[in-house]
Amino acid sequence: MDIRVVIGDVTKFRGDAMVVSLYERVKAPGGATAAVDAALGGAIRKLIQMGEVTGKWGEQTLVHALEKLPVDRILVMGLGEREDFTLDRARIVSAEALKHLRKIGARRVGTIVHGAGARMGTRGFNAAQAAQVLSEGALLGLYRFTRYKRNNEEGKREIETLTIVERDRQKLRAMTEAVRRGRLLAEATNAARDLVNEPGNALTPTELGRRAKEAARRSGIRCRVRGLQELRRLGARALLGVARGSQEPPRLIVLEYRGGRRGGPHLGLIGKGITFDSGGISIKPAENMEAMKGDMAGAAAVIAATSAIARLNLPIHVTAVVPATENLPSGSALKPGDILRAMSGKTIEVINTDAEGRLVLADALHYARTRKASHLVDVATLTGACVVALGTLNSGAFTNNQGLLDKVLAAGRAAGEKIWPLPMDPEYDELIKSDVAEIKNTGGRKGGAITGAKFLQHFVGDTPWVHLDIAGTFETDKEKGYQPKGATGVMVRTLVNLAVELLSE
Ligand code: BES
Ligand code: MN
Ligand code: ZN
Repeated sequence: MDIRVVIGDVTKFRGDAMVVSLYERVKAPGGATAAVDAALGGAIRKLIQMGEVTGKWGEQTLVHALEKLPVDRILVMGLGEREDFTLDRARIVSAEALKHLRKIGARRVGTIVHGAGARMGTRGFNAAQAAQVLSEGALLGLYRFTRYKRNNEEGKREIETLTIVERDRQKLRAMTEAVRRGRLLAEATNAARDLVNEPGNALTPTELGRRAKEAARRSGIRCRVRGLQELRRLGARALLGVARGSQEPPRLIVLEYRGGRRGGPHLGLIGKGITFDSGGISIKPAENMEAMKGDMAGAAAVIAATSAIARLNLPIHVTAVVPATENLPSGSALKPGDILRAMSGKTIEVINTDAEGRLVLADALHYARTRKASHLVDVATLTGACVVALGTLNSGAFTNNQGLLDKVLAAGRAAGEKIWPLPMDPEYDELIKSDVAEIKNTGGRKGGAITGAKFLQHFVGDTPWVHLDIAGTFETDKEKGYQPKGATGVMVRTLVNLAVELLSE
Protein backbone atom coordinates (compact mmCIF):
# COMPACT_ATOMS: atom_id res chain seq x y z
CA MET A 1 0.00 0.00 0.00
CA ASP A 2 1.27 3.38 -1.02
CA ILE A 3 0.84 6.20 1.52
CA ARG A 4 1.05 9.82 0.46
CA VAL A 5 0.36 13.23 1.89
CA VAL A 6 -1.38 15.81 -0.28
CA ILE A 7 -2.29 19.40 0.39
CA GLY A 8 -5.86 20.17 -0.49
CA ASP A 9 -9.52 20.16 0.35
CA VAL A 10 -10.91 16.87 1.73
CA THR A 11 -14.13 17.36 -0.20
CA LYS A 12 -12.15 17.26 -3.46
CA PHE A 13 -10.46 13.91 -2.81
CA ARG A 14 -11.19 11.40 -5.58
CA GLY A 15 -11.27 7.75 -4.59
CA ASP A 16 -13.42 4.98 -3.14
CA ALA A 17 -13.72 6.20 0.44
CA MET A 18 -12.78 8.98 2.83
CA VAL A 19 -12.10 8.54 6.55
CA VAL A 20 -13.06 11.35 8.94
CA SER A 21 -13.36 11.34 12.73
CA LEU A 22 -14.85 13.15 15.68
CA TYR A 23 -14.61 13.20 19.46
CA GLU A 24 -17.39 12.09 21.74
CA ARG A 25 -20.08 14.59 22.68
CA VAL A 26 -19.41 17.16 19.96
CA LYS A 27 -22.66 18.70 18.79
CA ALA A 28 -21.30 19.55 15.38
CA PRO A 29 -18.13 18.22 13.72
CA GLY A 30 -15.17 20.55 13.30
CA GLY A 31 -12.30 21.00 10.81
CA ALA A 32 -12.12 18.63 7.87
CA THR A 33 -15.01 16.54 9.18
CA ALA A 34 -17.16 19.70 9.12
CA ALA A 35 -16.19 20.36 5.51
CA VAL A 36 -17.24 16.84 4.55
CA ASP A 37 -20.47 17.27 6.52
CA ALA A 38 -21.26 20.50 4.65
CA ALA A 39 -20.70 18.79 1.29
CA LEU A 40 -23.06 16.03 2.42
CA GLY A 41 -25.71 18.63 3.19
CA GLY A 42 -25.38 18.17 6.95
CA ALA A 43 -25.78 14.38 6.97
CA ILE A 44 -23.24 13.84 9.76
CA ARG A 45 -24.83 16.54 11.95
CA LYS A 46 -28.20 14.90 11.34
CA LEU A 47 -26.82 11.53 12.43
CA ILE A 48 -25.42 13.17 15.56
CA GLN A 49 -28.83 14.67 16.36
CA MET A 50 -30.49 11.30 15.85
CA GLY A 51 -27.95 9.75 18.22
CA GLU A 52 -26.61 7.41 15.57
CA VAL A 53 -23.20 9.10 15.54
CA THR A 54 -21.89 9.83 19.05
CA GLY A 55 -18.12 9.89 18.56
CA LYS A 56 -17.77 7.11 21.15
CA TRP A 57 -14.49 5.21 21.15
CA GLY A 58 -14.70 2.33 18.67
CA GLU A 59 -17.74 3.66 16.82
CA GLN A 60 -17.71 3.29 13.02
CA THR A 61 -20.42 4.74 10.80
CA LEU A 62 -20.42 4.28 7.06
CA VAL A 63 -22.20 7.08 5.19
CA HIS A 64 -22.90 6.83 1.47
CA ALA A 65 -21.99 10.02 -0.37
CA LEU A 66 -24.58 9.57 -3.14
CA GLU A 67 -22.72 11.73 -5.69
CA LYS A 68 -22.35 14.67 -3.31
CA LEU A 69 -18.63 14.03 -3.06
CA PRO A 70 -16.05 12.53 -5.47
CA VAL A 71 -15.90 9.42 -3.19
CA ASP A 72 -18.58 6.75 -2.76
CA ARG A 73 -18.37 6.42 0.99
CA ILE A 74 -17.46 8.34 4.10
CA LEU A 75 -16.35 6.38 7.15
CA VAL A 76 -16.91 8.36 10.35
CA MET A 77 -14.70 7.09 13.19
CA GLY A 78 -15.43 7.79 16.86
CA LEU A 79 -12.37 9.01 18.77
CA GLY A 80 -13.89 8.80 22.27
CA GLU A 81 -13.28 11.48 24.89
CA ARG A 82 -10.77 14.13 23.85
CA GLU A 83 -8.94 13.76 27.19
CA ASP A 84 -8.53 10.01 26.67
CA PHE A 85 -7.07 10.28 23.19
CA THR A 86 -3.47 9.06 22.80
CA LEU A 87 -0.97 8.30 20.06
CA ASP A 88 -1.79 4.64 20.49
CA ARG A 89 -5.51 5.29 20.07
CA ALA A 90 -4.65 7.10 16.83
CA ARG A 91 -2.86 3.93 15.62
CA ILE A 92 -5.93 1.87 16.51
CA VAL A 93 -8.41 4.20 14.77
CA SER A 94 -6.29 4.11 11.63
CA ALA A 95 -6.08 0.30 11.69
CA GLU A 96 -9.79 -0.21 12.35
CA ALA A 97 -10.84 2.22 9.61
CA LEU A 98 -8.63 0.60 6.99
CA LYS A 99 -9.59 -2.95 7.93
CA HIS A 100 -13.25 -1.93 7.57
CA LEU A 101 -12.67 -0.36 4.17
CA ARG A 102 -10.57 -3.24 2.88
CA LYS A 103 -13.35 -5.64 3.80
CA ILE A 104 -15.86 -3.74 1.67
CA GLY A 105 -13.49 -3.57 -1.27
CA ALA A 106 -12.18 0.01 -1.18
CA ARG A 107 -8.89 0.42 -3.03
CA ARG A 108 -8.17 4.15 -3.05
CA VAL A 109 -8.74 5.62 0.39
CA GLY A 110 -8.41 9.18 1.63
CA THR A 111 -8.09 10.13 5.29
CA ILE A 112 -7.62 13.02 7.62
CA VAL A 113 -5.12 12.60 10.48
CA HIS A 114 -6.82 11.78 13.75
CA GLY A 115 -6.42 13.91 16.85
CA ALA A 116 -3.69 16.23 15.56
CA GLY A 117 -3.56 19.28 17.78
CA ALA A 118 -5.96 17.49 20.10
CA ARG A 119 -4.10 19.14 22.88
CA MET A 120 -0.75 20.78 22.31
CA GLY A 121 0.12 20.56 25.99
CA THR A 122 2.10 17.74 27.55
CA ARG A 123 -0.11 14.98 26.24
CA GLY A 124 -1.03 16.50 22.91
CA PHE A 125 0.69 15.76 19.65
CA ASN A 126 1.36 17.51 16.39
CA ALA A 127 0.44 16.80 12.77
CA ALA A 128 3.71 14.98 12.05
CA GLN A 129 3.28 12.60 14.98
CA ALA A 130 -0.32 12.08 13.97
CA ALA A 131 0.76 11.24 10.40
CA GLN A 132 3.40 8.82 11.69
CA VAL A 133 1.04 6.84 13.91
CA LEU A 134 -1.63 6.89 11.21
CA SER A 135 0.81 5.17 8.83
CA GLU A 136 2.03 2.77 11.51
CA GLY A 137 -1.49 1.80 12.49
CA ALA A 138 -2.59 1.33 8.89
CA LEU A 139 0.30 -0.93 7.86
CA LEU A 140 0.34 -2.86 11.13
CA GLY A 141 -3.42 -3.39 11.12
CA LEU A 142 -3.62 -4.54 7.51
CA TYR A 143 -0.86 -7.14 8.00
CA ARG A 144 -1.77 -10.73 7.11
CA PHE A 145 0.33 -13.89 6.94
CA THR A 146 -1.02 -15.49 3.77
CA ARG A 147 2.03 -17.32 2.45
CA TYR A 148 0.49 -20.74 2.85
CA LYS A 149 -3.04 -19.96 1.64
CA ARG A 150 -4.06 -20.37 -1.99
CA ASN A 151 -6.95 -18.72 -3.89
CA ASN A 152 -8.25 -16.89 -0.88
CA GLU A 153 -10.26 -14.21 -2.70
CA GLU A 154 -10.99 -11.95 0.24
CA GLY A 155 -7.41 -12.39 1.34
CA LYS A 156 -6.20 -10.98 -1.96
CA ARG A 157 -8.12 -7.75 -1.77
CA GLU A 158 -5.82 -4.92 -0.76
CA ILE A 159 -6.03 -1.17 -0.37
CA GLU A 160 -3.76 0.31 -3.03
CA THR A 161 -3.29 3.87 -1.88
CA LEU A 162 -3.87 5.76 1.33
CA THR A 163 -3.90 9.52 0.84
CA ILE A 164 -3.60 11.77 3.86
CA VAL A 165 -5.32 15.04 3.01
CA GLU A 166 -4.00 18.10 4.85
CA ARG A 167 -5.04 21.73 4.43
CA ASP A 168 -1.96 23.46 5.76
CA ARG A 169 0.86 23.50 3.20
CA GLN A 170 3.40 24.33 5.94
CA LYS A 171 2.95 20.87 7.40
CA LEU A 172 3.64 18.96 4.19
CA ARG A 173 7.35 18.32 4.67
CA ALA A 174 7.17 17.23 8.30
CA MET A 175 4.19 15.00 7.60
CA THR A 176 5.79 13.37 4.56
CA GLU A 177 8.92 12.66 6.59
CA ALA A 178 6.78 11.27 9.42
CA VAL A 179 4.94 8.95 7.03
CA ARG A 180 8.29 7.56 5.91
CA ARG A 181 9.28 6.93 9.53
CA GLY A 182 5.94 5.31 10.31
CA ARG A 183 6.20 3.07 7.26
CA LEU A 184 9.70 2.00 8.17
CA LEU A 185 8.74 1.11 11.74
CA ALA A 186 5.61 -0.77 10.67
CA GLU A 187 7.38 -2.65 7.89
CA ALA A 188 10.15 -3.70 10.28
CA THR A 189 7.51 -4.92 12.75
CA ASN A 190 5.75 -6.83 9.97
CA ALA A 191 9.06 -8.39 8.89
CA ALA A 192 9.50 -9.67 12.46
CA ARG A 193 5.92 -10.97 12.42
CA ASP A 194 6.67 -12.87 9.20
CA LEU A 195 9.63 -14.61 10.83
CA VAL A 196 7.65 -15.54 13.94
CA ASN A 197 4.63 -16.81 12.00
CA GLU A 198 6.84 -18.98 9.79
CA PRO A 199 6.67 -22.65 10.87
CA GLY A 200 9.63 -24.47 12.35
CA ASN A 201 10.10 -26.75 9.35
CA ALA A 202 10.63 -23.71 7.11
CA LEU A 203 12.46 -21.46 9.55
CA THR A 204 15.36 -23.62 10.75
CA PRO A 205 18.43 -21.99 12.35
CA THR A 206 20.09 -22.13 8.92
CA GLU A 207 17.12 -20.40 7.28
CA LEU A 208 17.01 -17.77 10.04
CA GLY A 209 20.66 -17.06 9.23
CA ARG A 210 19.80 -16.68 5.55
CA ARG A 211 16.90 -14.35 6.31
CA ALA A 212 19.12 -12.24 8.58
CA LYS A 213 21.72 -11.97 5.79
CA GLU A 214 19.02 -10.93 3.36
CA ALA A 215 17.66 -8.28 5.75
CA ALA A 216 21.19 -7.01 6.37
CA ARG A 217 21.96 -6.81 2.66
CA ARG A 218 18.82 -4.77 2.01
CA SER A 219 19.66 -2.37 4.84
CA GLY A 220 23.31 -2.09 3.87
CA ILE A 221 24.76 -3.59 7.05
CA ARG A 222 27.20 -6.40 7.83
CA CYS A 223 25.99 -9.84 8.79
CA ARG A 224 28.13 -12.79 9.76
CA VAL A 225 26.61 -16.20 10.38
CA ARG A 226 28.82 -18.57 12.34
CA GLY A 227 28.36 -22.35 12.04
CA LEU A 228 29.34 -25.43 14.06
CA GLN A 229 33.09 -25.23 13.53
CA GLU A 230 33.30 -21.58 14.56
CA LEU A 231 31.01 -22.13 17.53
CA ARG A 232 33.34 -24.86 18.74
CA ARG A 233 36.32 -22.58 18.27
CA LEU A 234 34.53 -19.82 20.20
CA GLY A 235 33.75 -22.24 23.03
CA ALA A 236 30.00 -21.62 22.78
CA ARG A 237 29.33 -24.80 24.72
CA ALA A 238 26.04 -23.65 26.25
CA LEU A 239 24.58 -23.01 22.79
CA LEU A 240 26.15 -26.21 21.45
CA GLY A 241 24.74 -28.14 24.39
CA VAL A 242 21.18 -27.13 23.53
CA ALA A 243 21.80 -27.88 19.83
CA ARG A 244 22.98 -31.44 20.51
CA GLY A 245 19.50 -32.95 20.39
CA SER A 246 18.73 -31.59 16.94
CA GLN A 247 19.66 -32.69 13.41
CA GLU A 248 19.72 -29.03 12.37
CA PRO A 249 23.06 -27.29 12.91
CA PRO A 250 23.03 -24.22 15.21
CA ARG A 251 23.98 -20.73 14.11
CA LEU A 252 25.32 -17.61 15.79
CA ILE A 253 24.01 -14.68 13.76
CA VAL A 254 25.77 -11.34 14.15
CA LEU A 255 24.60 -8.13 12.49
CA GLU A 256 26.59 -4.95 12.78
CA TYR A 257 25.57 -1.41 11.94
CA ARG A 258 28.30 1.17 12.41
CA GLY A 259 26.43 4.43 12.19
CA GLY A 260 27.91 6.00 15.32
CA ARG A 261 30.98 8.03 16.11
CA ARG A 262 33.85 6.65 18.10
CA GLY A 263 33.14 7.04 21.81
CA GLY A 264 29.38 7.05 21.23
CA PRO A 265 27.05 4.37 22.58
CA HIS A 266 27.42 0.83 21.25
CA LEU A 267 24.11 -0.96 21.65
CA GLY A 268 24.25 -4.75 21.88
CA LEU A 269 20.90 -6.36 21.02
CA ILE A 270 20.60 -10.04 21.85
CA GLY A 271 17.60 -12.06 20.67
CA LYS A 272 16.64 -15.59 21.69
CA GLY A 273 16.53 -17.66 18.50
CA ILE A 274 15.05 -21.06 19.39
CA THR A 275 13.38 -21.94 16.08
CA PHE A 276 11.40 -24.67 17.83
CA ASP A 277 11.26 -25.47 21.54
CA SER A 278 9.95 -28.94 22.37
CA GLY A 279 11.54 -28.72 25.79
CA GLY A 280 14.14 -31.33 24.84
CA ILE A 281 14.43 -34.34 27.18
CA SER A 282 12.37 -32.37 29.75
CA ILE A 283 9.69 -32.45 27.06
CA LYS A 284 6.68 -30.14 27.06
CA PRO A 285 3.07 -31.36 27.01
CA ALA A 286 1.54 -31.59 23.49
CA GLU A 287 -1.10 -28.93 24.11
CA ASN A 288 -0.11 -25.63 22.49
CA MET A 289 3.36 -26.90 21.70
CA GLU A 290 2.93 -25.52 18.15
CA ALA A 291 3.24 -22.02 19.62
CA MET A 292 6.89 -22.84 20.29
CA LYS A 293 7.67 -22.21 16.60
CA GLY A 294 7.68 -18.61 17.82
CA ASP A 295 10.41 -19.14 20.41
CA MET A 296 12.65 -17.05 18.14
CA ALA A 297 10.51 -13.90 18.49
CA GLY A 298 13.34 -12.16 20.35
CA ALA A 299 15.67 -12.93 17.44
CA ALA A 300 13.12 -11.59 14.96
CA ALA A 301 12.78 -8.37 16.97
CA VAL A 302 16.49 -7.62 17.16
CA ILE A 303 17.14 -8.46 13.50
CA ALA A 304 14.25 -6.26 12.31
CA ALA A 305 15.09 -3.42 14.71
CA THR A 306 18.77 -3.36 13.72
CA SER A 307 17.79 -3.18 10.03
CA ALA A 308 15.34 -0.35 10.76
CA ILE A 309 17.93 1.60 12.79
CA ALA A 310 20.29 1.34 9.81
CA ARG A 311 17.62 2.44 7.35
CA LEU A 312 16.91 5.46 9.52
CA ASN A 313 20.63 6.26 9.43
CA LEU A 314 20.68 6.78 13.20
CA PRO A 315 24.16 7.84 14.34
CA ILE A 316 24.74 4.87 16.64
CA HIS A 317 26.72 1.63 16.69
CA VAL A 318 24.56 -1.50 16.99
CA THR A 319 25.61 -5.13 17.20
CA ALA A 320 22.82 -7.71 17.14
CA VAL A 321 23.61 -11.23 18.32
CA VAL A 322 21.26 -14.16 17.79
CA PRO A 323 21.98 -17.65 19.09
CA ALA A 324 19.84 -19.93 16.90
CA THR A 325 19.05 -23.60 17.42
CA GLU A 326 16.21 -26.05 17.85
CA ASN A 327 15.57 -27.64 21.25
CA LEU A 328 14.68 -31.29 20.61
CA PRO A 329 15.03 -34.62 22.40
CA SER A 330 17.16 -37.39 20.90
CA GLY A 331 19.79 -39.92 21.87
CA SER A 332 22.43 -37.23 21.68
CA ALA A 333 20.41 -34.54 23.48
CA LEU A 334 21.40 -32.58 26.55
CA LYS A 335 20.19 -34.31 29.75
CA PRO A 336 19.13 -33.10 33.18
CA GLY A 337 22.20 -33.28 35.41
CA ASP A 338 24.62 -32.43 32.60
CA ILE A 339 27.13 -29.69 33.35
CA LEU A 340 28.14 -27.18 30.67
CA ARG A 341 30.95 -24.64 30.65
CA ALA A 342 29.66 -21.49 28.95
CA MET A 343 31.75 -19.27 26.67
CA SER A 344 32.48 -17.03 29.64
CA GLY A 345 33.95 -19.99 31.51
CA LYS A 346 31.13 -20.24 34.04
CA THR A 347 29.84 -23.77 34.74
CA ILE A 348 26.11 -24.49 34.55
CA GLU A 349 24.22 -27.48 35.92
CA VAL A 350 21.30 -28.30 33.64
CA ILE A 351 18.33 -29.13 35.84
CA ASN A 352 15.68 -28.82 33.15
CA THR A 353 16.45 -28.95 29.42
CA ASP A 354 13.35 -26.81 28.80
CA ALA A 355 15.17 -23.85 30.36
CA GLU A 356 17.22 -23.68 27.16
CA GLY A 357 16.75 -20.00 26.34
CA ARG A 358 18.97 -18.82 29.18
CA LEU A 359 21.66 -21.30 28.10
CA VAL A 360 21.91 -20.00 24.55
CA LEU A 361 21.61 -16.40 25.75
CA ALA A 362 24.46 -16.92 28.22
CA ASP A 363 26.84 -17.38 25.29
CA ALA A 364 25.27 -14.64 23.17
CA LEU A 365 25.42 -12.06 25.98
CA HIS A 366 29.05 -12.94 26.65
CA TYR A 367 29.81 -12.73 22.94
CA ALA A 368 28.24 -9.24 22.76
CA ARG A 369 30.48 -8.20 25.65
CA THR A 370 33.57 -9.40 23.80
CA ARG A 371 32.42 -7.14 20.95
CA LYS A 372 32.58 -4.26 23.46
CA ALA A 373 28.92 -3.28 23.55
CA SER A 374 28.41 -0.44 26.04
CA HIS A 375 24.74 -1.27 26.62
CA LEU A 376 23.04 -4.66 26.41
CA VAL A 377 19.36 -5.35 25.78
CA ASP A 378 18.17 -8.90 25.32
CA VAL A 379 14.72 -9.87 24.08
CA ALA A 380 13.48 -13.38 24.78
CA THR A 381 10.39 -15.57 25.05
CA LEU A 382 12.03 -16.78 28.23
CA THR A 383 9.52 -17.96 30.82
CA GLY A 384 5.96 -19.15 31.22
CA ALA A 385 6.26 -17.62 34.70
CA CYS A 386 6.37 -14.15 33.14
CA VAL A 387 3.03 -14.88 31.45
CA VAL A 388 1.62 -15.94 34.83
CA ALA A 389 2.91 -12.72 36.43
CA LEU A 390 1.93 -10.15 33.79
CA GLY A 391 -0.50 -11.89 31.47
CA THR A 392 -0.38 -10.98 27.80
CA LEU A 393 -0.60 -7.20 28.17
CA ASN A 394 2.88 -6.29 29.47
CA SER A 395 6.33 -7.59 28.65
CA GLY A 396 8.54 -8.05 31.71
CA ALA A 397 11.67 -5.96 32.22
CA PHE A 398 14.68 -6.74 34.43
CA THR A 399 17.84 -4.73 34.85
CA ASN A 400 21.12 -4.07 36.61
CA ASN A 401 20.91 -0.38 35.64
CA GLN A 402 17.95 1.90 36.43
CA GLY A 403 19.03 4.59 33.96
CA LEU A 404 18.97 2.21 31.01
CA LEU A 405 15.67 0.71 32.18
CA ASP A 406 14.11 4.19 32.29
CA LYS A 407 15.14 4.71 28.66
CA VAL A 408 13.67 1.35 27.65
CA LEU A 409 10.40 2.21 29.44
CA ALA A 410 10.20 5.59 27.68
CA ALA A 411 10.94 3.91 24.33
CA GLY A 412 8.17 1.39 24.98
CA ARG A 413 5.66 4.10 25.86
CA ALA A 414 6.35 5.95 22.61
CA ALA A 415 5.85 2.72 20.69
CA GLY A 416 2.61 1.79 22.44
CA GLU A 417 4.30 -1.39 23.74
CA LYS A 418 3.64 -1.96 27.44
CA ILE A 419 6.56 -3.01 29.63
CA TRP A 420 6.51 -3.62 33.39
CA PRO A 421 9.64 -3.87 35.59
CA LEU A 422 10.08 -6.80 37.97
CA PRO A 423 12.47 -6.92 40.96
CA MET A 424 16.04 -8.20 40.94
CA ASP A 425 16.99 -8.32 44.64
CA PRO A 426 20.30 -10.14 45.22
CA GLU A 427 18.48 -12.60 47.51
CA TYR A 428 16.94 -14.27 44.45
CA ASP A 429 20.42 -15.45 43.48
CA GLU A 430 20.22 -18.10 46.20
CA LEU A 431 17.63 -19.93 44.13
CA ILE A 432 19.99 -20.70 41.26
CA LYS A 433 23.02 -21.82 43.26
CA SER A 434 24.08 -25.35 42.34
CA ASP A 435 25.68 -28.00 44.53
CA VAL A 436 27.93 -29.23 41.75
CA ALA A 437 28.45 -26.27 39.38
CA GLU A 438 28.60 -22.47 39.72
CA ILE A 439 24.93 -21.98 38.84
CA LYS A 440 21.98 -24.11 37.76
CA ASN A 441 19.53 -23.33 34.99
CA THR A 442 16.29 -23.32 37.00
CA GLY A 443 15.32 -21.95 40.37
CA GLY A 444 12.04 -23.77 40.83
CA ARG A 445 8.54 -22.48 40.16
CA LYS A 446 8.53 -19.54 42.54
CA GLY A 447 9.61 -16.27 40.92
CA GLY A 448 10.44 -18.13 37.72
CA ALA A 449 10.68 -15.04 35.52
CA ILE A 450 13.05 -13.40 38.01
CA THR A 451 15.35 -16.39 38.43
CA GLY A 452 15.52 -16.61 34.62
CA ALA A 453 16.69 -12.99 34.56
CA LYS A 454 19.07 -13.63 37.46
CA PHE A 455 20.66 -16.46 35.50
CA LEU A 456 21.25 -14.10 32.55
CA GLN A 457 22.75 -11.47 34.85
CA HIS A 458 25.67 -13.84 35.49
CA PHE A 459 26.78 -13.24 31.90
CA VAL A 460 26.56 -9.45 31.58
CA GLY A 461 29.23 -8.45 34.12
CA ASP A 462 28.93 -4.75 34.93
CA THR A 463 27.66 -3.69 31.50
CA PRO A 464 24.34 -1.80 31.76
CA TRP A 465 21.74 -4.36 30.74
CA VAL A 466 17.99 -4.81 30.36
CA HIS A 467 16.32 -8.16 29.83
CA LEU A 468 12.88 -8.11 28.17
CA ASP A 469 10.76 -11.24 28.66
CA ILE A 470 8.21 -11.34 25.83
CA ALA A 471 6.78 -14.82 26.50
CA GLY A 472 3.32 -13.30 27.05
CA THR A 473 3.41 -10.68 24.31
CA PHE A 474 5.09 -12.25 21.26
CA GLU A 475 1.79 -13.51 19.88
CA THR A 476 -1.91 -13.05 20.44
CA ASP A 477 -4.86 -15.36 19.94
CA LYS A 478 -7.28 -12.59 19.11
CA GLU A 479 -7.24 -9.70 16.70
CA LYS A 480 -7.27 -6.29 18.34
CA GLY A 481 -6.73 -2.85 16.81
CA TYR A 482 -3.49 -2.82 14.83
CA GLN A 483 -2.65 -6.27 16.11
CA PRO A 484 -3.83 -9.21 13.98
CA LYS A 485 -4.00 -12.76 15.32
CA GLY A 486 -0.61 -14.45 15.56
CA ALA A 487 2.81 -12.84 15.89
CA THR A 488 2.89 -9.29 17.27
CA GLY A 489 6.40 -8.22 16.26
CA VAL A 490 6.67 -6.79 19.77
CA MET A 491 9.80 -4.79 20.74
CA VAL A 492 10.87 -3.87 17.21
CA ARG A 493 9.55 -0.33 17.55
CA THR A 494 10.64 -0.08 21.19
CA LEU A 495 14.22 -1.00 20.27
CA VAL A 496 14.34 1.55 17.45
CA ASN A 497 13.03 4.22 19.84
CA LEU A 498 15.63 3.13 22.38
CA ALA A 499 18.42 3.81 19.89
CA VAL A 500 17.04 7.35 19.57
CA GLU A 501 16.83 7.68 23.38
CA LEU A 502 20.45 6.58 23.83
CA LEU A 503 21.58 9.31 21.46
CA SER A 504 19.99 12.04 23.56
CA GLU A 505 22.35 11.42 26.51
N1 BES B 1 10.14 -20.89 25.49
C1 BES B 1 9.79 -21.24 26.82
C2 BES B 1 8.99 -20.15 27.54
C3 BES B 1 7.65 -19.79 26.97
C4 BES B 1 6.50 -20.30 27.52
C5 BES B 1 7.54 -18.87 25.96
C6 BES B 1 5.26 -19.95 27.02
C7 BES B 1 6.31 -18.51 25.46
C8 BES B 1 5.17 -19.03 26.00
C9 BES B 1 11.04 -21.49 27.63
O1 BES B 1 12.10 -22.05 26.94
C10 BES B 1 10.67 -22.45 28.71
O2 BES B 1 10.32 -23.55 28.39
N2 BES B 1 10.77 -22.00 29.96
C11 BES B 1 10.44 -22.84 31.05
C12 BES B 1 11.49 -22.62 32.13
C13 BES B 1 11.41 -23.55 33.28
C14 BES B 1 11.73 -24.96 32.84
C15 BES B 1 12.37 -23.09 34.34
C16 BES B 1 9.07 -22.43 31.58
O3 BES B 1 8.72 -21.26 31.53
O4 BES B 1 8.33 -23.33 31.97
MN1 MN C 1 12.01 -24.14 26.85
ZN1 ZN D 1 12.18 -21.66 24.96
